[in-house]
Amino acid sequence: MIKFERNIEQDLAMKNLLISMVDMSDYLSAVLNYTGKILTPRQEKELIKILKKYRIPHEGLKYDVKILSENPYFRDIHLEEVSSPTVKYDKATIKKRTLINMNFHQPLGKYLFHHHPMGYFESDIDLPVLMEGDKVWMSPAVSEIESMRPGIKRGHGKCLTFGLGIGVLPYLWLLKDEVEEVTVVEFNQDVIDLFEIYIRPQFKTNKNLKIIHGNAFDYYNEEFLNRFDYVYVDFWESNEDGLELYTRLMEKKITLTHIDYWVEDSILSDLKYLVSSYLHAVYDDKGITDFLSATDDEMMPYAKKINRYFKKRTDLISTEDQLLGFIHGIDVLREILGQ
Ligand SMILES: C[S@@+](CC[C@H](N)C(=O)[O-])C[C@H]1O[C@@H](n2cnc3c(N)ncnc32)[C@H](O)[C@@H]1O
Repeated sequence: MIKFERNIEQDLAMKNLLISMVDMSDYLSAVLNYTGKILTPRQEKELIKILKKYRIPHEGLKYDVKILSENPYFRDIHLEEVSSPTVKYDKATIKKRTLINMNFHQPLGKYLFHHHPMGYFESDIDLPVLMEGDKVWMSPAVSEIESMRPGIKRGHGKCLTFGLGIGVLPYLWLLKDEVEEVTVVEFNQDVIDLFEIYIRPQFKTNKNLKIIHGNAFDYYNEEFLNRFDYVYVDFWESNEDGLELYTRLMEKKITLTHIDYWVEDSILSDLKYLVSSYLHAVYDDKGITDFLSATDDEMMPYAKKINRYFKKRTDLISTEDQLLGFIHGIDVLREILGQ
């Protein structure tokens, strides 16, 4: 079982972890008053004050619409014609100075604070959205493109992605000189049909794009993954359904290093809070039963995995760095989920 050496450094680290969570919830309620609103110059000043208070980068609040309008997918692929029994095209206008989330939430600082990078455009912009009933099904929104950026950048050679969507990532990959060809595994035949009819014909590239109709879980194995130079997993809708699906992948215990997972930081945030409260309970010599009974049903499977993992470890944690390594270390978090 993991053990702690009690000392001032760790007392302070435990306290700072708690403070960072309280700060985050205060911050979230403070900015809630501004998100989705057209900011007046006065509100912008108030918002910047809040961002400064929580040490959140605020210089980049103003976004140039070119980030979208000059994006090759946005520029080359038109979705107006899309129409299927379930999916219809619509146009959403983002009014200038409307505060929106520009990316999924990301860690800030060394404790548990997370924030959504926010911003506004300096002029109105029309965004194509594909609607399923009254719900947005898919759209090349700025947060989607920004959150895929690391995966777009790392793509090279033979690339594989799980989840076709509207083909933003495959297109941006295919336009890169370093990318030879792209393979996509997609399990929904309607998504593939929609793509083949309306989207693929607009791709301005002759490179090979292969679409496999199949389930990501059947293809997520070492033999298949090793056929590619780079793999990007993106078949969840957001960080909310992401944790469960990502966990099922981690349970396969594949440790290849050429795979990245869409919005992984955001997916892992809830797990980090839980690991932190588990370690706090151990540090305070509180029973694990208390920790488990304070966990809600949804997070219970993860709480049990955390317990199984730390019971097997024999480390003695004596510094803040060691403690934070167990909370943020990607290999640790992946191994916990693989239990
Ligand atoms: C968020 S979208 C992917 C967006 C895509 N990266 C893009 O650039 O447009 C997720 C896609 O994963 C697909 N999907 C969901 N579960 C899947 C599974 N188990 N196997 C394969 N594809 C899946 C969905 O049908 C959807 O097309």
